[in-house]
Amino acid sequence: MTLFDIRKKYLEFFENKGHKIVPSSSLIPENDPTTLFTGSGMQPMVPYLLGESHPEGKRVADSQKCFRTGDIDEVGDCSHTTFFEMLGNWSFGDYFKKEQLEWIFEFLTDENTGIGLKKENIYVTVFRGNDTLGIPRDDTSIEIWKSFFSRAGLSSGVCDMKGKEGKETVLGGENRIFLYGEEKNWWSRVGVPQNMPVGEPGGPDSEIFYDFGEKYAHHSTDITVDHVNSDSGRFLEIGNNVFMEYKKTDGEFDPLPQKNVDFGGGLERVAAAKNENPDVFMIDVFLPVIEKLEELSGKKYGDTQKHFRIIMDHLRAALFLISDGAFPSNKDQGYFTRRLIRRAVRSAREVLGIESDICRNIIESYIDVYKNEYPGLGEKKDAILDEAEKEEKKFEKTLERGLKEFNKLDAVDGKTAFMLFSTYGFPLELTEELAIERGFAVDKKAFENEFKKHQELSRKGGEKKFKGGLADDSETSKKYHTATHLLHQALRKVLGDHVEQRGSNITAKRLRFDFTHPDKLTDEEKKQVEALVNIKIAEEVLIACDEKSLQEAKEEGAIGLFVDRYGDRVKVYSIGDFSKEICGGPHVDNTKELGHFKIKKEESSSAGVRRIKAILE
Ligand code: ALA
Repeated sequence: MTLFDIRKKYLEFFENKGHKIVPSSSLIPENDPTTLFTGSGMQPMVPYLLGESHPEGKRVADSQKCFRTGDIDEVGDCSHTTFFEMLGNWSFGDYFKKEQLEWIFEFLTDENTGIGLKKENIYVTVFRGNDTLGIPRDDTSIEIWKSFFSRAGLSSGVCDMKGKEGKETVLGGENRIFLYGEEKNWWSRVGVPQNMPVGEPGGPDSEIFYDFGEKYAHHSTDITVDHVNSDSGRFLEIGNNVFMEYKKTDGEFDPLPQKNVDFGGGLERVAAAKNENPDVFMIDVFLPVIEKLEELSGKKYGDTQKHFRIIMDHLRAALFLISDGAFPSNKDQGYFTRRLIRRAVRSAREVLGIESDICRNIIESYIDVYKNEYPGLGEKKDAILDEAEKEEKKFEKTLERGLKEFNKLDAVDGKTAFMLFSTYGFPLELTEELAIERGFAVDKKAFENEFKKHQELSRKGGEKKFKGGLADDSETSKKYHTATHLLHQALRKVLGDHVEQRGSNITAKRLRFDFTHPDKLTDEEKKQVEALVNIKIAEEVLIACDEKSLQEAKEEGAIGLFVDRYGDRVKVYSIGDFSKEICGGPHVDNTKELGHFKIKKEESSSAGVRRIKAILE
């Protein structure tokens, strides 16, 4: 069974359970100021988890491309990847624990309807409850799991892990259901309940682990004792059932208006379980790439798995990031693409002895593997390969010289780190890695301060970008979201109908809008656009939302962007008769809420694409 077979089976399984299958969103979130990347399947679903109605109904499933910045340094072991696909199914206030656990257990273990993993190798974890937070133990899930395991003739003992982590005795015997606290069995985009900003949804979860057997115990070097949720290498988390029923309020939790299910399963990890090998890099999609790397380097995967894996992970991630528009650069998402490519190039040159064209060779292998599943990769092949190659060449030019410079040092302070970055293109993290390899003390704060002084680098990944409460941000982001529609239409009126959206990004402070137009805007044009938006604000126009089929929306002349991302039913937001646009929302109710619109900057984004940054005052 291949990775793609498993994905297909999953989507078919949940379609049969009444779910509408929706396409994966981009890795670069649209109009979400809180995060740089899509790092889980639920991210694009947040409005619907909070209560907005999903155009496709209450049951939705997909396989979402994900990128997790926090895992870059973990890559090299057998299970971590920065890019992965997350199988996801959601109940927006429809079914709950019983159906979810029953279905996912059937999908994972049934030979006919699912993928037939061995039941005896499945272990689960459940939330033990926390009195201080006022959230009870999840007895319902415990009882449900017990009944499934008993029915399968398996042990179903419950073991509370409090005070036992690190004791091997908990394995073996009758135990199969393990209870942990919120640090392991609670899910929200920012982790434990205590960290959640006001307005953020979350809930207790129940995770599913696959046991690869005792021979894999302790095979990760730094973990000495196994327990199901220990990352020791023996057990791998393959799925997470989040019962998203709470919303953070002031220091407390309120029930959400609806009880949701948010399931996420790492597709590659499920495939590794099916493969009975905990090394995710041994699943089918990676095999041609391993072969290619062995051919290019004359080395075997077994010789230096860590660096094979770094190259394999990073260049697959770079491929999907570039394809979604994150070209290598010094800021925002592009900075990660740059880091990934430069890290892979370094492993290729220094460890595998591959002197050139690592990006072209490996990314091309991946495009062959993925092009039927993601047709865009094949269509954009040349452009993607050129981008990656350009970055590799840029880095190659300075890598040797930079390393020479580095080798003269016996310590690295903030100024030197910045010099290595600005002169030799060493990302901060590379300098840090080199310093650690050579046993220098690293003053990360000093590095970062130096960087901040010189450059407005926005390197932060998802979780760290939360500032203040979501409730405030989401009011602001609604306003910017609506202002973006007005701007889009105003640009079409002033410049012409050739104007099409190419990208959009909103923070709590501004909107950014990329659109097709060949020339720099004149001052006159900018003024006209600004005036038109402000007239619509002054007119106090009501905003209406209709749900309809994509076909109907198109026939009505709604502007549809990134159309292949939408499902069959879409939301169409109309701002009077001025603007009609297919969009997920949310928006303000009346344009009068927007205040005053002002263009702060107009610049080139890429060939034929202009970028506007604007604020609401
Ligand atoms: N949102 C949950 C996760 O990412 C399913 O683990």
